[in-house]
Amino acid sequence: MVWNKLNGKVLVVGASGQVGAAMCRFLRGTNRGELVLPAARTPQDGWVTLDLATLVDSADVREALASEELSAIVCTAGWTHVDGCEGDPARSLQVNATGPAVLAGYAWERRVPLVYYSTDYVFNGFDATPGPYAEQDPTDPLCVYGRDKLVGEQQVLGYHPEALILRTSGVYGADEQGKNFVYQVLKRLTLGQSVRVPEDQSSTPAYNEDLARATFALLEAGERGIFHACGPDVVNRKQFAERIAREFGFSTAGIEGVRTVTLSQPAPRPLVAGLDSAKLARTCPDAPMRSIHDALNDCRPALEASIAVWRQEAMVTA
Ligand SMILES: NC(=O)c1ccc[n+]([C@@H]2O[C@H](COP(=O)([O-])OP(=O)(O)OC[C@H]3O[C@@H](n4cnc5c(N)ncnc54)[C@H](OP(=O)(O)O)[C@@H]3O)[C@@H](O)[C@H]2O)c1
Repeated sequence: MVWNKLNGKVLVVGASGQVGAAMCRFLRGTNRGELVLPAARTPQDGWVTLDLATLVDSADVREALASEELSAIVCTAGWTHVDGCEGDPARSLQVNATGPAVLAGYAWERRVPLVYYSTDYVFNGFDATPGPYAEQDPTDPLCVYGRDKLVGEQQVLGYHPEALILRTSGVYGADEQGKNFVYQVLKRLTLGQSVRVPEDQSSTPAYNEDLARATFALLEAGERGIFHACGPDVVNRKQFAERIAREFGFSTAGIEGVRTVTLSQPAPRPLVAGLDSAKLARTCPDAPMRSIHDALNDCRPALEASIAVWRQEAMVTA
């Protein structure tokens, strides 16, 4: 389904999250900026209020969106707390699968494209079947979050046969929330604290700005179905932390690698995971997913500003 930009606004559901905010920034940076319609479950001025936890059928969204001219729905919203999902599978299924599927049905009714985001947690990451995975590789999620994102993919495609599904992993970059892995590592290093991270979980981190660009390139090309959208580097968490440290001039001495099993996390993670994004690179050569080095350089000013703030705060409390 081709994205007809002139038909109306792009509804970005989950605009308060890392990926949703990157989508809004990307659109606002183009001359289509006025066409962003952010949505979140918490009411905000000028935003649509939509709670995936309450969506049962398209009637639930029709009223909220009836007066809006829409050109596409980009559903970045989801319950991303992997261990939380393990403890509350009903909420996970509703927010990660059923709610997005309702949105997909509504988008199909309105004949507009729908984008849904999934994860490399739909794969098992076993040594015998290791990542980085291609789109057609067999799925086998180990945890509730991964299972429900896979159910979400299937339900979204069931309700919207032309939906676009982007699987991604370890999303990072400048972000107002400041919660992603790069912020966690840089904050601890700035404050002189040690960084304890698993050294047996590998993935292919994705730069949030590139993910946004790739999303709209795929929409513009009228693509549908599943695409993997990650950077080219395959790193474990310790290696990723070390690269971040080196890029910003910190010593790597305080970065300690641990085995996942010692962390006693409720949700099992795929260990040798990550995604092969060759199909995306072939389809959209003008929207490359950059290396960690290039991506960190791209967002360096925002990250250095955060480092300056943490240094200042540390001095005030010292
Ligand atoms: N970040 C990653 O590394 C990563 C990796 C693989 C896949 N993904 C997928 O990419 C998508 C975006 O991830 P993200 O990193 O942007 O996540 P995030 O920063 O945790 O943001 C999640 C967004 O979903 C919203 N949300 C949560 N529950 C909701 C509900 N019941 N109704 C409506 N909105 C709700 C949140 O709103 P509030 O602000 O109100 O909580 C927030 O805007 C997700 O689908 C995730 O599964 C992310």
